[in-house]
Amino acid sequence: MNFELNETHKMIRETARQFATDIISKSCDERDEKEIFPTDEIKQLGELGFMGMMVPEQYGGAGLDSLSYVIAMEEISRVDASCGVIMSVNNSLVCYGLNKYGTEEQKQKYLLPLAQGKKLGAFALSEPEAGSDATNQHTIAVKDDDHYVLNGIKNWITNGTTADYVLVMAQTDPSKGSKGISAFIVEKGMPGFTYGKKERKLGIRSSDTVSLLFENVKVPVANRIGDEGFGFKFAMMTLEGGRIGIAAQALGIAQASLDASLEYSKQRKAFDQPIAHLQAIQFKLADMATEIEAARMLTYQAAVLKDAGQPFGKQAAMAKLFASKIAVKSALEAIQIHGGYGYVREYKVERYLRDAKITEIYEGTSEIQRIVISRALLKD
Ligand code: CAA
Repeated sequence: MNFELNETHKMIRETARQFATDIISKSCDERDEKEIFPTDEIKQLGELGFMGMMVPEQYGGAGLDSLSYVIAMEEISRVDASCGVIMSVNNSLVCYGLNKYGTEEQKQKYLLPLAQGKKLGAFALSEPEAGSDATNQHTIAVKDDDHYVLNGIKNWITNGTTADYVLVMAQTDPSKGSKGISAFIVEKGMPGFTYGKKERKLGIRSSDTVSLLFENVKVPVANRIGDEGFGFKFAMMTLEGGRIGIAAQALGIAQASLDASLEYSKQRKAFDQPIAHLQAIQFKLADMATEIEAARMLTYQAAVLKDAGQPFGKQAAMAKLFASKIAVKSALEAIQIHGGYGYVREYKVERYLRDAKITEIYEGTSEIQRIVISRALLKD
């Protein structure tokens, strides 16, 4: 498979890297400490075309391929994984889902401002009793003439309170199990739609994670995505692409861990020499670089398959499984290389570890990725 980057890919990398270094890096530590949402940064990412990267230009997007998106996600997450996840949910779950499965009317009304970065989206599948076991949906939508009445709770929703539009999965016919689940576009401010507690997290602390509460929310039938009963397949097919985005986010955190380790090991002296001269450190750096490159290749492969219109679910799961593991491992090694300095807030590597861990959990835990991969292997 050919991963040669074209001029557009190189330009995207340069633009994303510069924006992350010049703008995002200024506030990321304070935002992490104080749990502040990056409102201005996300607005500027929208102006750069990074909030709807794969959406065609006619619907307000940048009309780029998935590889461009992966490259940008890596660069943004390399500086701030919180900005990374906000960007990821808007791009690969919300915009992708609407672009692929929405009606023309839904695209004009919702996709256009989301892809332009003027509005923000969220994706609501998880519930208190439906995390990995995603078919076990308790949120219910009952049809009443030209609308549905929505009741239930969604948990762990990234961009929860900040999102203008939320894609919500709900049971429309509980007797049909996963085939009775439907997907809806719910707008912020619809009567009966409120928020539960804001989560206080280990990492990605500047992103907004809350539960959503729906009490007799009237959602127009026109806001249903696809047919009744299509919601679970919609969520699964959308998540396949989402997992590529999270793999790229993990890749960014892993690369940041290596960058910090290279810089520190050249400066820090022990036994009368920079610690980079010690084989114990050199071997760690070599292993980190090799594993990060392998994770990058898996992630690029999944993106290229997606762009080619080929099945990519297994590769996306492999990329997320491996890249998230390497992110955690690289961050841990970076802390070890920094010694005591790695354990305190003075250096960024402790944040990298805190941010890395979630990539093994959201958009399908590592255990779920193994289920997806093994099912594909056995089916093959
Ligand atoms: N594409 C199309 N259809 C799919 C599919 C896919 N990738 N995966 C499953 N389906 C279909 C199945 O074919 C099946 O349909 P049929 O009955 O017609 O064959 C139906 O969906 C039910 O699937 P399963 O029988 O496989 O269901 P299951 O309960 O055994 O397992 C699972 C499914 C893979 C474990 C799934 O529940 C899953 O992926 N769980 C993890 C959920 C997840 O990733 N949550 C992330 C939340 S979003 C998030 O984190 C965003 C954020 O804020 C950052």
